[in-house]
Amino acid sequence: MIHPVLLCGGSGTRLWPLSRKSFPKQFTRLVDRESLFQASARRLTGADFAPPTIITGSDYRFIVTEQLHAVGVDPGPILIEPSARNTAPAVLAAALHLAKADPEALILVAPSDHVVPDAAAFRAAIAAGLPAARAGHIVTFGIRPTRAETGYGWLELTAPAQDGQPVALTRFVEKPARPAAEAMLAAGNYLWNAGIFLFTARTILAAFTEHAPALLPPVTAAVDQAQVDLGFLRLAPGPWAGAEAISIDYAVMERSSNLIAVPFGAGWSDLGGWDAVASEMGGDAQGNALSGPATAIDCRNSLLRSEDNSLELVGIGLDDIIAIATPDAVLVAHKSRAQDVKKAVEVLQTKG
Ligand code: GDD
Ligand code: MG
Repeated sequence: MIHPVLLCGGSGTRLWPLSRKSFPKQFTRLVDRESLFQASARRLTGADFAPPTIITGSDYRFIVTEQLHAVGVDPGPILIEPSARNTAPAVLAAALHLAKADPEALILVAPSDHVVPDAAAFRAAIAAGLPAARAGHIVTFGIRPTRAETGYGWLELTAPAQDGQPVALTRFVEKPARPAAEAMLAAGNYLWNAGIFLFTARTILAAFTEHAPALLPPVTAAVDQAQVDLGFLRLAPGPWAGAEAISIDYAVMERSSNLIAVPFGAGWSDLGGWDAVASEMGGDAQGNALSGPATAIDCRNSLLRSEDNSLELVGIGLDDIIAIATPDAVLVAHKSRAQDVKKAVEVLQTKG
């Protein structure tokens, strides 16, 4: 039995104005009829999977239960973080909680905001990683890199990648600087880290003890003193506040030497910006992706989305433009500037 742990805490500012702090990216219907979170939960159901453990913020707890109910997935434990401390404390809390029932529990940590169109291929990759996870390795899933991405982790392989064939890692490099990313892309023996991890509770707790021991006292206390509230497990705020905000990639993965990657070639996107959303949506003959009441006249490679049925969006003569209309905000940007959308959120926040 594998226990999925769905990380559900990010705010996805690069997909503003659809993704909001009050309703982040993972809960929105970006490329499908169901939300990314719903798709992530459904992808990890079946005979091999226990009900998913969710770790999220208090503001999102009812969105989580409603969205799971809507797709017929029974939740496992729902852990509530008093504040967002990034992924290392979140994963540690979930592992400590699951270890109480079974120290050998198999845990699959997955983000809730990615697109993995072929769920069966994904489950096959997980199955391929199980023997290594049971043997005490930390298993990651690797994506063939297509650009010198500085926003991802990179996995250096000890042997050439073959889909579904576990391969040991020489090292894990989180969010490299541009020259290092370019060198790794050129070298060829690297994969991107998909941000999905498989291990036993015992393995990851030992890794935290070795590589991030300072996290253990506050997070253990937060779990041990958690309060049950309407079926949610509220981690204790006092000890939680003492946990360093750090990602699991920096806290554990970069420092570990027992990593194994399963190369995964069946399609994956973390929808890191509107340009990535446009490519997942697919385009018409002119490369335009349209959603809602949107019309493109003489446009090319543009994304036109109206998020309101009563809001007509028309583009004329556009090339490589992103236009997103929501009832209270409109974004118009050049596709090459998709990563700068997070700046809009920062600017708007300073305006109050
Ligand atoms: N519960 C909880 N609490 N979830 C969180 C928190 C938190 O404080 N912070 C982030 N998350 C969730 C996000 O919602 C997302 O689903 C996942 O954890 C990963 O966090 P990101 O902030 O999106 O990480 P990243 O994209 O910068 O980097 C990670 O993913 C890349 C692939 O998309 C790393 O694992 C990289 O190595 C990897 O390449
Ligand atoms: Mg991400």
